[in-house]
Amino acid sequence: MKTAITELFGIEHPIIQGGMHYVGFAELAAAVSNAGGLGIITGLTQSTPELLAKEIARCRDMTDKPFGVNLTFLPTFTAPPYPEYIAAIREGGVRIVETAGRSPEQFMPLLKAAGIKVIHKCTSVRHSLKAEQIGCDAVSVDGFECGGHPGEDDMPNMILLPRAAEELKIPFVASGGMADARSLVAALALGAAGMNMGTRFIATKEAPVHDNVKKALVAASELDTRLVMRALRNTERVLKNKGVDELLEIEREKGASLKIADIHEQVAGVYPKVMLEGDMDAGAWSCGMVAGLIRDVPTVKQLIDRIMDQAHGLITARLAGMLAAQPA
Ligand SMILES: Cc1cc2nc3c(=O)[nH]c(=O)nc-3n(C[C@H](O)[C@H](O)[C@H](O)COP(=O)(O)O)c2cc1C
Repeated sequence: MKTAITELFGIEHPIIQGGMHYVGFAELAAAVSNAGGLGIITGLTQSTPELLAKEIARCRDMTDKPFGVNLTFLPTFTAPPYPEYIAAIREGGVRIVETAGRSPEQFMPLLKAAGIKVIHKCTSVRHSLKAEQIGCDAVSVDGFECGGHPGEDDMPNMILLPRAAEELKIPFVASGGMADARSLVAALALGAAGMNMGTRFIATKEAPVHDNVKKALVAASELDTRLVMRALRNTERVLKNKGVDELLEIEREKGASLKIADIHEQVAGVYPKVMLEGDMDAGAWSCGMVAGLIRDVPTVKQLIDRIMDQAHGLITARLAGMLAAQPA
């Protein structure tokens, strides 16, 4: 399949693996790129630019295909040394960066001077247009269904994607709730040039996370995610667990007066506990509603091949068949 996204990034299939904290290590990024998609290393999971440089080198040892790095611009007072992370990306020969969180505007000159293509992940049409205006090459449009931070507009992809298609000139991928061939074909029909998956890629053989996480995703239904931190305007969709129940209880008690310090125990340092140790009750970790569509743990290649085969079938048999069946 050829789309504006496969052409932009030099990949075979229009499928991107979004950056994921403590999941997007070299093993997963390389597996996705080797299977013809675009794998992405999560920059800030590497606690220093030097460690990111090593992770990029490890990924390069595992694939000769294009891969990217995610840079998430966090709303913190002590910002990570982003220019040094960008230097590590440039020197590692990576030419694709997925930005997320705040606008990458301030760093666009650095990224562009390094010949890097930027795909910015955002949750609204207005932020997508801003990304286009500041020179991003593409956007990843993240609907309300998504795992992680869906923003504060609560706009599902059924509306968000066609609205993005109406307004944007640069290509975009659909993100949030994408799991299979049906997602891909629907995303293309709504105007996207591909799809970005997060949660689905965690339940793969190569995802370097504890088996308990993969089992939890297979067991979860579409009803098992919760939204947390709304009162802080930092809404996150997470998988329900004991720590999240406690967090929600604190949120109910504190109401609009909630401070991040009130929920420190349920949000800080949770990722290594969940992803590395398999402690599934540790607290808030991002997970999409798409968990309800995850029923197996295939290899990344099996997953991507299945999506592309079935997408072909959906388009040429199911959809074309409906047209052929129309009375003249
Ligand atoms: C466990 C997990 C961690 C994530 N961490 C990040 C992150 O550090 N930076 C980022 O930009 N997006 C992050 N995301 C969001 C994904 O890149 C992607 O946009 C999202 O998962 C898409 O929705 P889906 O889960 O329904 O596929 C994370 C998602 C998950 C599930």
